[in-house]
Amino acid sequence: MTQSASPIIEMSRTHPPLVSAVFDTEYRSAMQSVLSRYTPSEMVGAHRWMGTDADRRAGGVVTGHRLGSIPDAGRVIVTNGTQSAFNMLLGGLVGQGNVLAVESLTYPPILVLAQRFGFTPKGVEMDEEGVIPEALEALCRSDRPKALYLLPTLQNPTTATMSLGRRQAIVDVARRYDLQILEDDIYSLLPQDLPPPISALAPERSWYMLGVAKTIAAGMKIAYLVAPSAALGEAQFWPGVRATFWMAAPISAAVSTQMIETGGAKRIIDAVRQEMVTRHQIVRPLLSKTDFVTKDGALHVWIRLPQSAYASELAAAIRVQGVSVGTADPYVLPGEVVPQAIRIGIGHAKSQEELENATRIIAECHDDIVNAAR
Ligand SMILES: Cc1ncc(COP(=O)(O)O)c(C=O)c1O
Repeated sequence: MTQSASPIIEMSRTHPPLVSAVFDTEYRSAMQSVLSRYTPSEMVGAHRWMGTDADRRAGGVVTGHRLGSIPDAGRVIVTNGTQSAFNMLLGGLVGQGNVLAVESLTYPPILVLAQRFGFTPKGVEMDEEGVIPEALEALCRSDRPKALYLLPTLQNPTTATMSLGRRQAIVDVARRYDLQILEDDIYSLLPQDLPPPISALAPERSWYMLGVAKTIAAGMKIAYLVAPSAALGEAQFWPGVRATFWMAAPISAAVSTQMIETGGAKRIIDAVRQEMVTRHQIVRPLLSKTDFVTKDGALHVWIRLPQSAYASELAAAIRVQGVSVGTADPYVLPGEVVPQAIRIGIGHAKSQEELENATRIIAECHDDIVNAAR
């Protein structure tokens, strides 16, 4: 078997940069404390269920930064990542034969789960602030969705972010049509001066999800979910549901709790935010000839192409040069038109130099393809 000269530079993912100097110190120290505080048998001898009291309090602290006040620990459920939370919620809150409202370009695992659970995802038109309230209202009238899944902050893939007014308008529609809101706030810890989550404005109908994958580490597989109430959370997760796949691995939950309690999580997030400032400074000027959108703190950039150019052709040309980027295809609902755009993750490159080289390749291939399509 022949090996390619240099490995592919991965820019199709939205992982945060590895701030190893800070991360390794904090993670090691948290792991050591956990192992000295608890015996291994005590820790991994049983499931973590919805999280220990300490885990749920830590989840309350971390989500409280965004929600504006610390939610009661009884409302907090620790899960094995955001996708596990969706798996439980979409089955329970939407269910077979019903409709889930989603952004017109939505996080691809939702489409996979729609097929598995037999519900229908219906896209709501978006503008530069994400879901348009009037379009959501029209969908509520025509299709009576049970719930809305959305990212009001740094929408994936477009980076659209809602103003406070837009969030309030979405809440008004949700209240009028009795919609449950599944709010995925996973990209919200890096930008500063954000409006509050929708879940803070309508806690009675919101399921707030804050995973650590985009700020601390994707491999920790931890997400904190805040349910509208302790009783509603228990109805979806415990005890009658008879599923344990969604529960956090005890060691990871314990390390996460320890890092939140000691401030280690905050130090890692601050370091990631700082590194992302530099990465944006590298990438934005290099992409100045493209029609790109991104925001401070975003882990990715969305580059729109003119109608006459094909994103798949561009992604293939970039790949030949050793860089992997994503197109809009996986985000598109069945039967809808695929916008010509590529998504480039700027956190995953191993170094700033690698990021710069890869971005130059993307910009050059973009110019070639767009000029040829004119
Ligand atoms: C919108 C969104 N939600 C959630 C996740 C990650 O989920 P998990 O917490 O299960 O790793 C991602 C990662 O790509 C994402 O883009």
